[in-house]
Amino acid sequence: MSLLQVKNVTHSYAAPHQFFKEKKRATVLSNVTLSIEHGKCLSLLGTSGAGKSTLGKVILGLEKPQKGQVFFQGVDVYNTDSSTRRRLRRDLQVVFQDCYSAVNPQMNAEQIIGEPLQNYETLSLKEHKRTIGELLETVGLKLDDRHKYPHQFSGGQLQRVNIARAIALKPKLIVLDEAVSSLDMVNQTKILQLLSDLKSAFGLSYLFITHDIKAAYSISDVLAVMEKGEVVELCEDKSQFFQSPHPSVRSLVSSILSEHPRNRSV
Ligand SMILES: Nc1ncnc2c1ncn2[C@@H]1O[C@H](COP(=O)(O)OP(=O)(O)OP(=O)(O)O)[C@@H](O)[C@H]1O
Ligand SMILES: [Mg+2]
Repeated sequence: MSLLQVKNVTHSYAAPHQFFKEKKRATVLSNVTLSIEHGKCLSLLGTSGAGKSTLGKVILGLEKPQKGQVFFQGVDVYNTDSSTRRRLRRDLQVVFQDCYSAVNPQMNAEQIIGEPLQNYETLSLKEHKRTIGELLETVGLKLDDRHKYPHQFSGGQLQRVNIARAIALKPKLIVLDEAVSSLDMVNQTKILQLLSDLKSAFGLSYLFITHDIKAAYSISDVLAVMEKGEVVELCEDKSQFFQSPHPSVRSLVSSILSEHPRNRSV
């Protein structure tokens, strides 16, 4: 059984209200079907507005789709009791692009990372502090960093704090929505390496949402491309991706080829 199954999901948002006009809904996801296996990473590529973040929200249980189902660990996430939903929430975490807005600026790293532990675990104070120390070390931060507030970290360091929070409860799946996009190349590479290491060490699965085909290729096992709310290409074996004749894939591939100095026209 797959860890996550998205089955025939269709979703639309209500268009802004306009007087004297019939209220319309804009379809953002159209009959989307995909799955993520245990310990695997599926990268979701596609142009802006394709519906990637909306699909992430649907998977996270934040946006109930009009049609279709989402099964996480075999449970229909929109059709289950509240205690099961609470258990699923613990196994399903998220890291967003904007590391600063994802945290409370008045909380220090210890409080940020400790929040999910306080919500879900019943650790003694000593165990709580020890766990936070281990998490900081796992993501490559120092024990002293626990006293720092968000504005005292660089973007790359704060994203490590966010990752520590996301892995605190040893989840099964993490949705990474443009999680490295706002970082410089050096930090992007370091965080991608950290995510790959965590995936191997803890058997994590990822939904890696990105515009960056190189980052997607480096971290994922499976590559999917969305266009106008539909999954238009799904390569279970990522090495097939570059051979795909689909126009969306061709334009993604040509966008990286054109970066090479030899292929530049100007
Ligand atoms: N809460 C909302 N209410 C109404 N429309 C929305 C809402 N969220 C997203 N949309 C619309 O849904 C479409 C898909 O948005 P979404 O954020 O899922 O795209 P995306 O693929 O993540 O884009 P990007 O790569 O720019 O992040 C867009 O047209 C967007 O304007
Ligand atoms: Mg998005």
